Amino acid sequence: MSTVAVPDLTTTQAPFIEEAHHDGRLFIHQPYDQYSERNHAAWRALYARMLPRWERYANPAFQKGIASLCLDPERVPRLEDVNRFLCPLTGFQAKPVSGYVPAFLFFDCLRNREFPTTITIRDSASLDYLPEPDIFHDIAGHVPMHTDPAFAETLVRFGECAHIAADLADSISDLDRRTAVMTSIVRAMARFFWFTVEFGLMGPPHGLRVYGSGLLSSYGEIRHCIESSAVQRHPLQLEWIVNQAFEIDHYQPLLFVADSFDHLYDSVRQLERWVKEGKLNNVAPGEPSVNSRDLESFMAASTQPRVRR
Ligand SMILES: [Fe+2]
Repeated sequence: MSTVAVPDLTTTQAPFIEEAHHDGRLFIHQPYDQYSERNHAAWRALYARMLPRWERYANPAFQKGIASLCLDPERVPRLEDVNRFLCPLTGFQAKPVSGYVPAFLFFDCLRNREFPTTITIRDSASLDYLPEPDIFHDIAGHVPMHTDPAFAETLVRFGECAHIAADLADSISDLDRRTAVMTSIVRAMARFFWFTVEFGLMGPPHGLRVYGSGLLSSYGEIRHCIESSAVQRHPLQLEWIVNQAFEIDHYQPLLFVADSFDHLYDSVRQLERWVKEGKLNNVAPGEPSVNSRDLESFMAASTQPRVRR
């Protein structure tokens, strides 16, 4: 007997999201009533199996963040509830989006202490790997870190970097040259974001622990990244990271270890200086490729008046 699927908020199958795409709406609301029991069951299963791994492998700031947000292990969270706990701590808020946010817009949201947040959740049949982000990755993987003041400031600095890059674009009149420079800077920023916010490790005093959200939301990789001898782990080095390609569809063979969140913050300040000084104008080619939407978002920003901070 065949069953008719009930519309819900499952990743790649949600009519609400398709409608938003059709209408060109990127910033949306979270239609909480549309989560089905199977959506809540997926959250419950993901949360239950990650909890012991977070206790073992996650940075203490993340564990404190999980407790501060009072996430419900049983049900998909309401973003307004999350924000009620989050906002008083660092000013950050989860902001629901319908899908991919072009790079400049994404970084600009961070600068405004808004985190673009996916509202769909993966199908319970594919808990292990999902190429696109979902609400478990965004809310259980990213947002607990946003409760930490030093980490929150680091995200804001990423946003500032994007504005400095757009300023630099303004100063280059030749279009081909401007395109090449912006492609390089966006690639460098994407690499730095990837190897820190998404896949960062932190060293002593707590032992080697995970603070990157891609790892914090992956049941298999959170253990692999700490325990496996197949993973190269090196001290965080900006000059290496901005030139280091990465691929997204398998466990990471190379990770970088920050000393502390202050160290991470200082590294983003250095990234910012390097953007200003033109040191990222020609980083090593390779992944990630910079798509036209990302590039255009920076180019468009460079022609608009922006508030300096
Ligand atoms: Fe992410």
